Amino acid sequence: MTGERKPRRVLIASANPLFGKGLMKLYGERWQQQAIQSRLASSMEETLAALDSWQPDLVIVDYDDRAIHREEFLSHFITGSRPMQVILVSLQESGAVVVYDRRTLTPAQANDWLNLPWQPEPSSNPPSRRTPKMKGNTRHLLIAGLLVIVSTAVLYFLLTSIGLLPEEASQQAATIDRLFNAHFFMISLLFSMIVVFLVYSIVVFRSKPGEKTEGAYIKGNNRLEILWTIIPLGTVIAFSFFGARNLAETRKAEPQALNIRVVAFQWGWSFEYSDFGVTSRELYLPVDRQALLSLTSRDVIHSFWVPEFRVKQDALPGENLVKQLRITPTRIGNYTVMCAELCGGAHAYMNAPVKVVSKADFDQWLGTQVSAVITDPVERGKKWAENTGCISCHSLDGKKLVGPTWKGLYGETVTLADGTTVVADETYLRTAILDPNAQITQGYPANVMPSNYSSLLTDDQINDLIEYIKSIH
Ligand code: CUA
Repeated sequence: MTGERKPRRVLIASANPLFGKGLMKLYGERWQQQAIQSRLASSMEETLAALDSWQPDLVIVDYDDRAIHREEFLSHFITGSRPMQVILVSLQESGAVVVYDRRTLTPAQANDWLNLPWQPEPSSNPPSRRTPKMKGNTRHLLIAGLLVIVSTAVLYFLLTSIGLLPEEASQQAATIDRLFNAHFFMISLLFSMIVVFLVYSIVVFRSKPGEKTEGAYIKGNNRLEILWTIIPLGTVIAFSFFGARNLAETRKAEPQALNIRVVAFQWGWSFEYSDFGVTSRELYLPVDRQALLSLTSRDVIHSFWVPEFRVKQDALPGENLVKQLRITPTRIGNYTVMCAELCGGAHAYMNAPVKVVSKADFDQWLGTQVSAVITDPVERGKKWAENTGCISCHSLDGKKLVGPTWKGLYGETVTLADGTTVVADETYLRTAILDPNAQITQGYPANVMPSNYSSLLTDDQINDLIEYIKSIH
């Protein structure tokens, strides 16, 4: 009986091809038995021309299409006196069809609106149609979210366990690695968020065999777009904050830092222990003590880099361009400093050994180096006195500081706290250095001088120190 109906002409006006195609497809499915003619008009001119020449029964206008001026269209429509229906339809909200007068149509209601001879299938409760769909979406989101978490955990574990970073051998390295690990986590998370959703969609939403329908036309989602702008923005700001904080941490100065001047040249390194007048082709560092490297270059730009220490600094030519780098080695061992700035033909071979040793080994090495440079034990003793801090408590000019002056001390008769006297000979001086509380000079407090100089100074250094004290008259 439907076949007896007069064929209907439907004009779809939209510049968006998906809009028209989608509606026509919908028509095709819904009203297969109906003789429906439909036409697409993708501009205002086409629409008006079709209105005049084709005389459609129904016009469906894309509410969101700026190319179709609604006022112009409506005025043209009103001035004409043809009895036809107009529906302004928006597909903007995901999945729902919204008409101009703000009524949301379910597909079943849409048929009433289109006033076509199609009876909706008997449905027990049409308004609940959205609920199972929402539930389905939430379920997909939950599963994908769970997969993202699992994938992130697995990737993070892999990235942190395959040894991407070399051994961590300095305090600064620990700081840098904290940041590296945070990055590894972000890399794992972002990779998972992209790839898991991609693969999940490919697998779960692939079209079934024989399926011909188009996917939903989704124009945008403001909430999602605001979220995926704000979250990365916040993340980047947080990372710049962590970065700045960690950078400051790697540059934190310790008062007892060991001064080393590092000279880079084509193609090698030279290390000057300025306080001791020692120059070495190997970088010796005492463990757990900060080394303050002052870097300079004799020719072009080089870059000081020991991967195990993580921190890196360019060495620039020019005496007023000295750059500083602080390293606190935490692990005894042999490392290699390499040049990290392309500096010419032998750049790749611009290496030098780095030896992190115990404090005792370092003192011994330094002692040997100093002895080779300074042959006069008095001169050496002066170095030790300055670098061990002796002369901040013992004056060289007779002034009374925390401890007795060294001026004229050797050979003098010293009155001790208990009233007895002793001649300040070499034995006395050695005891005073190694066991300072054994013989306290009258008028000076006990337990002031540290009693650990036997571990701070080697025997040779103590001998030098005694020679130096002997020399001060
Ligand atoms: Cu020096 Cu590369």
